[in-house]
Amino acid sequence: MDIDWKTLGFQYMDTDYIVRCAFHGKWQNGELVGEWGEPYATKDKYLHLHVSATCLQYGQEAFEGLKAFRGVDGKIRIFRWQENAKRMQQSAIGLKMAPVPTELFGSAIRLALKKNLQFMPPYGTGATLYFRPLLIGTTPRLGVGPGADFEFIVIPSPVGPYYRGKFHCTTFIVNRHIDRAAQYGTGAFKVGGNYAASFRATEAAHLQGMDCIFLDSKSHTFIDECSAANFIGIRNGEYWTPKSLAILPSITNNSLMVLAKEMGLKIVRRHIRLRDVQDMTEAAACGTACVISPIDKIIDPDKGTTYTFGDGTPGPIMTRLYQRLQDIQYGRAEDKYNWCEVVEEK
Ligand code: PLP
Ligand code: COI
Repeated sequence: MDIDWKTLGFQYMDTDYIVRCAFHGKWQNGELVGEWGEPYATKDKYLHLHVSATCLQYGQEAFEGLKAFRGVDGKIRIFRWQENAKRMQQSAIGLKMAPVPTELFGSAIRLALKKNLQFMPPYGTGATLYFRPLLIGTTPRLGVGPGADFEFIVIPSPVGPYYRGKFHCTTFIVNRHIDRAAQYGTGAFKVGGNYAASFRATEAAHLQGMDCIFLDSKSHTFIDECSAANFIGIRNGEYWTPKSLAILPSITNNSLMVLAKEMGLKIVRRHIRLRDVQDMTEAAACGTACVISPIDKIIDPDKGTTYTFGDGTPGPIMTRLYQRLQDIQYGRAEDKYNWCEVVEEK
């Protein structure tokens, strides 16, 4: 295996095995009754799926994203997978699918890792092994409604360091004309439809060399999400992050809040008006892929306003938070919150 870890980006790379597991059930008095089979590893990356499967016809699909890190001590650590399992259970409930039990989720991730150890990037390259758990409805249906059969799949892929070279800033542009998710819709679930719905806005921003900020769909006043990441801002020694029913509860944001509190910052979770950012000294997007992506500017084209943060380089608090979380993920600092599962390779 000859992979140049340092040139990998955040793109799919085929590994040896994926892990699959099937659920078969039926709906009885509004309740889904059935059983999960045993997870197994397979080299076949193609599904033999009915063309009328509910995932294809009605978007009955949810996914997750998490990483394993090769630590400074040579050990492999999977970061907070139990939280991804819980979030996928919430997404499953949200789309009337069979939730994947936490233990099954964990054993599928461990199996996917064990079968693909040669794709585990070495320490010091910035690359990690990303897992994409996927849950799809497989029952053929024409009538509008949920299926009763599901497939849980774990797709591993090594991914490159998000920051090749220096930790740097990104510019965001506000889009009031395309909503990602509605207040009481599916924004808090990690389901494929939310992403397809955001493509028009995110691709338009990319064409201008930027990323996109979504506001709340009801009033277009409050910040919801930064493309596929949560928003965070620093204001008077406080860590501000949006409270909204339409955003994904980010595991990175949750971890950063714990670390920010540790550093003496007050956590403020509230509706954040776009104009509130004018008093912020630092801002960033956060998520598994990048950990923290500092923001230098937010452009509001409708109002002709540009908000700037600092001097165009990552601010001191975002830099400290980024390093603190990465130190835990790479085993350079004590894992006092038990966020990492150390995996035995034998
Ligand atoms: N928001 C959206 C829409 C996302 O897709 C993601 C990425 O997973 C996040 C936020 C960040 O979540 P996490 O930190 O759990 O990766
Ligand atoms: C993240 O992991 O931070 C993301 O933005 C998820 C995306 C790749 C779907």
